[in-house]
Amino acid sequence: MNQTGLGLYIHIPWCEKKCPYCDFNAHALPIAHQLDPTLETRYLKQLLLDLDQDIETFGVHSELTSLFLGGGTPSLLSSRGLGFLLAEINKRLPITAATECTLEANPGSSDQAKFVGYRAAGINRLSIGVQSFSDPALQRLGRTHSRVEAGAAIQAARRAGFSNINLDLMHGLPGQTPESAIADLDYAAQFAPEHLSWYQLTIEPNTVFFSAKPELPVESLLQAITDQGLHWLQSQGFARYEISAFAQSDALQSQHNLTYWRFGDYFGIGAGGHGKLSRQNTTLEIQRTQKTRVPKDYLKSPNRRVTEVPIKERPIEFLMNACRLIEGFALTDFEQTTGLPASALEGFITRGAQQGLVTANAGRVTPTAQGLEFLDNLLLLA
Ligand SMILES: C[S@@+](CC[C@H](N)C(=O)[O-])C[C@H]1O[C@@H](n2cnc3c(N)ncnc32)[C@H](O)[C@@H]1O
Ligand code: SF4
Repeated sequence: MNQTGLGLYIHIPWCEKKCPYCDFNAHALPIAHQLDPTLETRYLKQLLLDLDQDIETFGVHSELTSLFLGGGTPSLLSSRGLGFLLAEINKRLPITAATECTLEANPGSSDQAKFVGYRAAGINRLSIGVQSFSDPALQRLGRTHSRVEAGAAIQAARRAGFSNINLDLMHGLPGQTPESAIADLDYAAQFAPEHLSWYQLTIEPNTVFFSAKPELPVESLLQAITDQGLHWLQSQGFARYEISAFAQSDALQSQHNLTYWRFGDYFGIGAGGHGKLSRQNTTLEIQRTQKTRVPKDYLKSPNRRVTEVPIKERPIEFLMNACRLIEGFALTDFEQTTGLPASALEGFITRGAQQGLVTANAGRVTPTAQGLEFLDNLLLLA
């Protein structure tokens, strides 16, 4: 394990219904509105089997820096089921008072009793998928909740004692103007979230929106939404630390996502879960794990695939993550997490600096505003 800590990602692959823009490994529930208790029990047991296999292979028993239940819709889990899962994980990989434990909640499947149970089970950070506070926008996005229900879910989370809440909002929505995008952010601000994830809607292959593309704002409007939104976020004390992530203080940044962006180590369990673990032998070995995606196949066997990250792919894999961070990265971090000398990045840094996409100073490489905006172009230089 490298020194960036240890994360655990747990994928919950079901949703009440599949949203037309979403390409995550999310499947409509076999029985609408609820996760059948028998199915939940089988899945939780399979998650533990999956984790045991990973632990045995990698021989890692360290304390967790972070744990993240993502989806899909993890808030479909019962608090009893979640309590069982976290207690069992704790026996294998200790969860301490310092471990950031996040659960993604969908306002359509959240209530206060559940949130109280999640807190009691050990969840200390909630990430609520609001997307927008405009009812017409929510309808066009095929969401199952309204603006009022989104607000009620956030208030329920506060009443349940959550003091670390992220809200997911999307922008660049069909019919959106800079004014309506800012209205969404303004509405979010009244709940004083500690963290905001502000994603631009992308049209992904294999989604309903890809085959029936909605009319999106034109490029100049998208640019105005981004510029005004970034300005609003800054003015409200949300410091941008990654392309789409904003926190009220450094301590409130997502530790789990930082592990990804710093090319740290994490287990990934559950249907379609991805992990990445490194081991220092004579050289640094880096391995990726991937589990089978379809829930019913996963319930038969996680069907884990383990692949070595070859030396020649390590620079681009590192840069794809680290160049998303506003602070960029230290060359020593590159060396430590990839096992390669800093000289492996010389060509990239020279080309990136020539094109005004990165700066390099005192052993640190930082993307410029242009580099962040045109990340794909920057990565082509690797
Ligand atoms: C893994 S999803 C799950 C969250 C939760 N299931 C929900 O939707 O409420 C995490 C977030 O990714 C964002 N997202 C999903 N698809 C997207 C897309 N096509 N473009 C931009 N953001 C997207 C949404 O903001 C979503 O809340
Ligand atoms: S609820 Fe979230 S994960 Fe599920 S389909 Fe919608 S965006 Fe995707």
